[in-house]
Amino acid sequence: MKIVLKGGRILDPSQDLDVIGSVVLENDQIAEIGTKVDERGADELYDCTGCWITPGLVDIHVHLREPGYSHKETIITGTQAAAAGGFTTIACMPNTDPPLDNPALIDFLLDQSSSPEAGGVFVAPIGALTQEMKGERPSDFAALKRAGVVAASDDAFPLQNSAVMQRCMELCRQVDLPVATHCEDQSLTMGASMNEGAMSAVLGLRGMPRTAEEIHVARNCLLSFETGCPLHILHVSTWGSVAIIEQAKDLGAPVTAEVCPHHFSLIDDQMPPFDTHWKMNPPLRTKLDVETLISALAAGIIDCIATDHAPHARHEKDVPFEQAPFGIVGLETAVGVTLTHLTHKGLLSPLETVRKLSTRPAEIYRLDAGTLKPGRTPVAQVAVIDPDLEWTFDVNKTFSKGKNSPYHGCVFKGKTMLTFSGGEVYRDQHWDKRPQVQNA
Ligand code: DOR
Ligand code: ZN
Repeated sequence: MKIVLKGGRILDPSQDLDVIGSVVLENDQIAEIGTKVDERGADELYDCTGCWITPGLVDIHVHLREPGYSHKETIITGTQAAAAGGFTTIACMPNTDPPLDNPALIDFLLDQSSSPEAGGVFVAPIGALTQEMKGERPSDFAALKRAGVVAASDDAFPLQNSAVMQRCMELCRQVDLPVATHCEDQSLTMGASMNEGAMSAVLGLRGMPRTAEEIHVARNCLLSFETGCPLHILHVSTWGSVAIIEQAKDLGAPVTAEVCPHHFSLIDDQMPPFDTHWKMNPPLRTKLDVETLISALAAGIIDCIATDHAPHARHEKDVPFEQAPFGIVGLETAVGVTLTHLTHKGLLSPLETVRKLSTRPAEIYRLDAGTLKPGRTPVAQVAVIDPDLEWTFDVNKTFSKGKNSPYHGCVFKGKTMLTFSGGEVYRDQHWDKRPQVQNA
């Protein structure tokens, strides 16, 4: 089977490549890439004029909800949502029921995600940092690593006890496993449901102070520096966290960080009062935070973009604001939000945009992804993105089971059109409406 993606803008940050050219996939592998490829004998030809051809996108922060919460999302609906967003590799969080704290559960997850319905999307599991995610006894990291986990995390249940965190980092360092942390001192956020500021005061809601995040960012960076354990800071949301991460990196601590699309595109003041689709943790902050996060991303202080795709069922979000669970879906809006808010505003170049959404996150968890170099990924993983397509996001037409998005009805410029992974092809409905499409 020979597939030719013809005449697009090839953006491959792993080779610093930004050229108009074609990509040939043969037997599920990248066979050729460049300006002069052999198109003869193609079984399928996709005219990619005006589109970007990129390595499949990589999202290292996704909640798939299985086992235990399949009413929110399943491995299949989550991977389908990923493919629709252009993602061919995702890392999934362990806050399931039971939590992903042992090899048998990792086997289950890897088995489910390799089913044909999963759209060829690779799922890299993140193991629980502590047994049952109770924050007490470290997991068996060697066993988890052998089973295939790419990192260990306490996401959603941030470790409050610094001694336990230090021990976990020492143990993870021994088996060379990155630790990913949701940074929140919960003694400062108890009962709070949004950012602490003017808006929380107006609404009469208890607010989360920025310091609750920053204290943990500082603590975890110091422990990473001390233990030498690779630390990945999840969903950075404040300018203070950025300053601390920059210092930690300057000191030589093995620290990386991510930002979510909602944290660089929305602020707490914009929230329709008590709309639970705007409730997530960390919460939306202020304009100054957004501006700082964007410049930190462009400067490489924040390494990559990750969605924190956190689906919840309608009935769970359809309750008073304070009682609603934290989290919003993100896989199917990440490209639209990023291109609209960063790339088209000139804040990130197209090549850097792809780096932050693919090559760099793959490096952080050492995933075989994020590149168009032939033979560097187990199968060809490619996304085709129309950067100029304007479209309106309708959450009711998404693949994810979760309909909890603050972007419903928003107009974005930039959309994933095609996603190729492991012989599977996702094809957006807008693809067939393209005037220049030739066939396939
Ligand atoms: O918004 C969030 N949702 N933040 C978290 O820490 C957990 C996540 C979830 O699992 O729903
Ligand atoms: Zn999360």
